[in-house]
Amino acid sequence: MTRVVRTRAELREALAAAPRPIGFVPTMGWLHVGHRSLMQRARADNATSVVSIFVNPRQFGDPADLERYPRNEARDVEICGEEGVDLVFAPTVDEVYPPGFDTTVAVGAIAKPLEGAARPGHFDGVATVVAILFSLVDAERAYFGRKDYQQLLVIRQMARDLAIPTEVIGLPTVREADGLAVSSRNVHLSPAERAAAPVVHRSLMAAADAWRRGERSADALRRVTRDVLAAEPLAVPEYVSVADARTLHELETVDASALLSTAVRFGPTRLIDNEALE
Ligand code: PAF
Repeated sequence: MTRVVRTRAELREALAAAPRPIGFVPTMGWLHVGHRSLMQRARADNATSVVSIFVNPRQFGDPADLERYPRNEARDVEICGEEGVDLVFAPTVDEVYPPGFDTTVAVGAIAKPLEGAARPGHFDGVATVVAILFSLVDAERAYFGRKDYQQLLVIRQMARDLAIPTEVIGLPTVREADGLAVSSRNVHLSPAERAAAPVVHRSLMAAADAWRRGERSADALRRVTRDVLAAEPLAVPEYVSVADARTLHELETVDASALLSTAVRFGPTRLIDNEALE
């Protein structure tokens, strides 16, 4: 039976009695098969599984984006129950950021390019809330999807630098049958945009194929990605990146492991995806 707690005190009390190790899946709700795969690993690897559901206002630059973020807590709790999650932490904004809260966790270089450049302040919000959640849950392991690859690197850096002992584990992106990466934001796509959206994955796969055939010029790989995206009129690319997979510095030549990533707009909806070249 999944128990739902809403306050720090209730969480502390529930965790005091919980068998260890604890596996933690932080989420913003609107749970989907990608989250289910994280919960399944958390359950398989640990004696207790904890999921947080909290739409974190500090990681949204645009208030309209926060406003339209999809929510359905009852359904989310049901999904946690189906996955056998032991504990759901679903706090209010005041519970996470009590009156007088005045700290920001700002991760350095790894948070600057790509999503950091496109969404100023976003990773400060992510690092701050995840530091709070890590500190409250005190899990042995926490699970994140590799679709948000830069977020994974930012959280790893934050945990290492703040001496938070929770191990940060990244799991493969879950995809729809047509290749579209599963995301809470997909619900905002119109039928025409949804039909067009698999081009994001296709564009990355085309570049990955070129790399497998021996292409090592990062510019050539960016061009392959852009050309595939350009063939889809509803896709408006924001960036196409071929970067060092550890530092996220843009590359000229792909001779070590690299990350191919892109952000693409379909109307008001912004999708991101990536493919590792390794
Ligand atoms: O990936 C997410 O859903 C969020 O960024 C996270 C990690 C739960 C922090 O709010």
